[in-house]
Formats: sequence, structure tokens, C-alpha cells
Amino acid sequence: MSANTVDIRKAAYKLPTDVKEMDRLGIQHTLWSLLIGGLYPVSVSDRVESLLDAATAREKPPVVLDVGCGSAIWSIEMAKTFPQFQVVGFDLNAQKFSDAPTNFRFIQGDLSTTLLEFPGQADIIHCRCVAQHVVNPQALVRLLYESLRPGGLLLLADGDWIVYDQHKKLVEPFKWWESNTVTTSTRKSREPTSTVRLEEDSHGRSWYAGWLDFFGNLTKSKDYRPIEELVKSVEGWKVLDSRSYLSPINWPGEGIENGEDLGKVLNINQRNFFLGAKEIALRAGLSSEMIEIWGRHYEAEVETGRFYNVWYYLTALK
Ligand SMILES: C[S@@+](CC[C@H](N)C(=O)[O-])C[C@H]1O[C@@H](n2cnc3c(N)ncnc32)[C@H](O)[C@@H]1O
Repeated sequence: MSANTVDIRKAAYKLPTDVKEMDRLGIQHTLWSLLIGGLYPVSVSDRVESLLDAATAREKPPVVLDVGCGSAIWSIEMAKTFPQFQVVGFDLNAQKFSDAPTNFRFIQGDLSTTLLEFPGQADIIHCRCVAQHVVNPQALVRLLYESLRPGGLLLLADGDWIVYDQHKKLVEPFKWWESNTVTTSTRKSREPTSTVRLEEDSHGRSWYAGWLDFFGNLTKSKDYRPIEELVKSVEGWKVLDSRSYLSPINWPGEGIENGEDLGKVLNINQRNFFLGAKEIALRAGLSSEMIEIWGRHYEAEVETGRFYNVWYYLTALK
């Protein structure tokens, strides 16, 4: 399939895009920096820095694309760190970008068309927490390939909606659609027993894992596959490294580098994620009573539980 026929996205992005969500993405950016040790993994530092030499040798500055940049927190930091680079952020939604340096610019629109302006031009492409949200993640990864120069560097990252317990076993999520209490909001008179019934309906499954599972089902493309599979399906990529990172939430985890800080940052991130996603849950059919009950259990679990979330990071060359 050629890049100009790809159907990356026709439907609207499902997560919030307001200022609060941009602030949350800022917190999540801190989480990523703690996980990988900075704006990019140390293992590719040499490649990034070699672009500085190329910048002096070439007339045009090296081009860095941040694909689905959100608040552009990564691209703006990149532009500040490397004033010699030309950094371009792409997104469906524009933000204020008030502290952006002059070597950063933003292009608004759907990636399936805006990326076509840069065929074979990018030296580095950063695409974080985007691939699962587009209709055709495979087409996106192919388009990223076509937008890079030969020898260009891909930084591809994504989160997951699963939760592990302290023994790193998968936690069973509460599934609201299997609950008998879901019709509460449509009943004329609320039954006083509904709260109790909802709690019974959870059968001891995790409310925290349930909220993430719910949003994963709502937002993730049905054609999404792990990022490593998506990359390996496009001929030409040379994968340098592909790994998963565990982040503890509200505890330091066991044997986790930067565990203490990660635990604190993810705690703030996930509490904000619950609040930010409430509106979407209402629109998806949950009653406000149910969300209120869910929120209480979610908070209690995050407060006392010992969970991990998982994040994936891949680096590759064209
Ligand atoms: C979860 S946010 C991640 C933002 C940023 N990469 C980060 O890590 O902070 C996903 C972003 O992808 C953007 N997005 C999703 N689908 C898109 C599309 N088809 N074209 C352009 N942007 C898209 C959304 O608007 C949103 O800002």
C-alpha cells in the first residue's frame, strides 16, 4: 500500500484533548524520561549527537518530527536542547505551545496527510503513545518509514492497558458490561441496593485494572499489534532495541530503577487519568453513580495496592 492511500484515521481521537489532559501528558512525559533515562535512550545518544556534525556539514538543519505530539512537551524540550535542529510537531489538535523556541513549529491535521509533506526528509522521528489510537497502525508505521531519510532514527513508544500485581502476574480487570448493575442510570427510581450489587458484581476483580481495560477497549484500534510486530512487518527497518519497562504505582516496586520516583509520578498520572476520563465514561454509557463508586474503589486500590503498569520502547534505523 502506498503512503498516500493509507487510511490512518477517519474517526475522532477518543481521549480528552483539553488543558488538563495536556498537563497529564506532561506528567506522563516525566514518567517516560525516568523510564528511558532522558529524551531518548542512552543507547542512541551517539546517533542523535552525530546529527550535530551533519548539521554543520549540511546547509539544511537536521529535521526531527514528533508525530502525534499532543502538548509537544517532548519536541519543545528537544528543540531547546538542540537549537541546531528543526523540530516539527504534528497533531490533530493545536495547543498553545507558549514557551516554544523558534526552531519548533507545529502542523495541525491528520497524520495521514500532514506526514506526506516530509517524504524521506526526517533525521529522527518520535512517535509516542499514538500508534494504538490510529485506525491503521500498520499504515502509520509504514508512513514513518517513508518519512525518514535512509539511516534515520525511529523512536517509537507506547503504553499498555494491562496491570500486573507485585509478583508480576496479570491482574484480572473488573468488566462493567458483565455487571448486573449497569442499567441503574436508565431506571426511573434508583434501587438503594445498587451500590452493594455493583460491588458484589466485581467478584473481587480489580477496579483499577478495570478502568484501564475499559479505556483500552474504547480507544485501541482493532488492528493494533505490539509495536515490535508492527515495525518488523515493514521491510527495511533495522531494529536496534525493543524492550518493555515496568512502572510501579504509588510504591517503589521491587528491583526497579528509579522505582521511588516512578511510583510517585505514576500515582499522580493515573489519578488524573481517572478524573480526565470520567466524561468519556459517561458518554460511553456508564451512570454517574457507577463512576462515583468506581472512583472510590480505584482510589482505594491505588492507595494500598502494589501494582505495575507496562510501557514499550523501540528504536530502529531506516
Ligand atoms: C496519548 S497522546 C500522546 C501525545 C504525545 N506523543 C506524548 O507522548 O505526550 C496521542 C496524541 O495523538 C494525536 N493523534 C491521534 N490520532 C491522530 C491522527 N490521526 N493525526 C494526528 N494526530 C493524532 C492525539 O490528538 C493526541 O494528541
